[in-house]
Amino acid sequence: MGKNILVAFGGASPEHEVSVITGMQAAHSLKDSGNSITPLYVSKSGTMYTGEHLLDLEEYKDLKALEAKSALCSFQTDSFGKTTLVESEKKGLFSKPSRYPVDVILAAFHGSDGENGGFQGLCEMYNLPYTGSGSLASSVGMDKRASKIYAASLGIPVVKDVFITENEWTASRDDLMTQIKTLGPAVVVKPMRLGSSIGVKRASTEEEILLAIETAFRYDSHLLVEQAVSPLMEINCSVLGDYEDAKASVCEQPVGADESLTFEDKYMGDEGKGMASASRLIPAPISDELRNAIQDASVRLFKSLDASGVARLDFLVNKETQQFYFNEINTIPGSFSFYLWDKSDISFPALMQRLIDLAVKKHREKNGRIRSYETNLLSNKAVKGIKGLKGKG
Ligand SMILES: Nc1ncnc2c1ncn2[C@@H]1O[C@H](COP(=O)(O)OP(=O)(O)O)[C@@H](O)[C@H]1O
Ligand SMILES: [Mg+2]
Repeated sequence: MGKNILVAFGGASPEHEVSVITGMQAAHSLKDSGNSITPLYVSKSGTMYTGEHLLDLEEYKDLKALEAKSALCSFQTDSFGKTTLVESEKKGLFSKPSRYPVDVILAAFHGSDGENGGFQGLCEMYNLPYTGSGSLASSVGMDKRASKIYAASLGIPVVKDVFITENEWTASRDDLMTQIKTLGPAVVVKPMRLGSSIGVKRASTEEEILLAIETAFRYDSHLLVEQAVSPLMEINCSVLGDYEDAKASVCEQPVGADESLTFEDKYMGDEGKGMASASRLIPAPISDELRNAIQDASVRLFKSLDASGVARLDFLVNKETQQFYFNEINTIPGSFSFYLWDKSDISFPALMQRLIDLAVKKHREKNGRIRSYETNLLSNKAVKGIKGLKGKG
């Protein structure tokens, strides 16, 4: 039976437009499968809007005009604990603001608060089922240092790095430079909590390294300086499922103009098509041994992180030695990595249905446990015993 699905996308993120495309792809597929769709568009400044016209990609050519004709909205919970999406205003004179029932939220954000656990936390607060990973896996996934530490703890290889914060850099630059030089002839400097290759720079000479670090500090107060993998081959693998049952897709090899993929390589290749249009080889032309190792590492990390839905795990491979390193986990990958799943015998509509089913399962598991206690510790008798409260005692 069809569900009321809130498709949430956009957001204050450099990947705003990519998210709009992912959102549209999901909304239209879910609609075709017999569900009722309400769009939840988050603008670049973080405001939530709804309105039927938000399901038309053409409307996004002029974002200012789009916002002007969309209705502001928010979540509201009634006394039975049921949450709906409610318009805060209506443009027409006599019409009442609409309310939209929400059975499941399909989260189609990329980057920033939509993917880092922020939006996921909001859904938890309202106790609404939502697709994809929970807050923990989402926030670990957004933090390059935390996710590498996590992967390393499972025995998955990661590239050697030096972690620097802005105040440490100011206080002990020479010490840090000495450590950085032990990494090898070339390094890659990257902000700890960004994406889309923003602020990521390869550097070899001391001058280049200094410049790359100064530049990266404009984006984040925490940086990683990593040993550069060279000659580099990038291999990505998607995982679908949850902590109980997860499977890996075929692997892809994204191919950019030069060794390091830029934002343009990833998203601007074929206008308007999002991640699905970037140049890539599927399946990646790698040995069975390397593919198995990457798929195995991907599933282990996904399950151990308690990730859910669909994720894409990115690896760096030294082409010469065939050594692979975990690089990052994207908990809401561009276009939900559907181009890897349709090569793994799961169609886009089937992938969307799986995401919805997993969201419902996760929600049911959460609500099947005891979550509150009847005892009120602040009842009159108990409060009397608490020291430091005015007028009590
Ligand atoms: N240690 C490294 N060695 C070589 N190239 C790297 C390394 N780390 C990142 N890169 C290159 O930079 C790109 C962006 O880095 P990544 O860590 O994936 O950041 P983002 O989250 O911005 O995608 C990668 O796709 C890869 O091409
Ligand atoms: Mg990346």
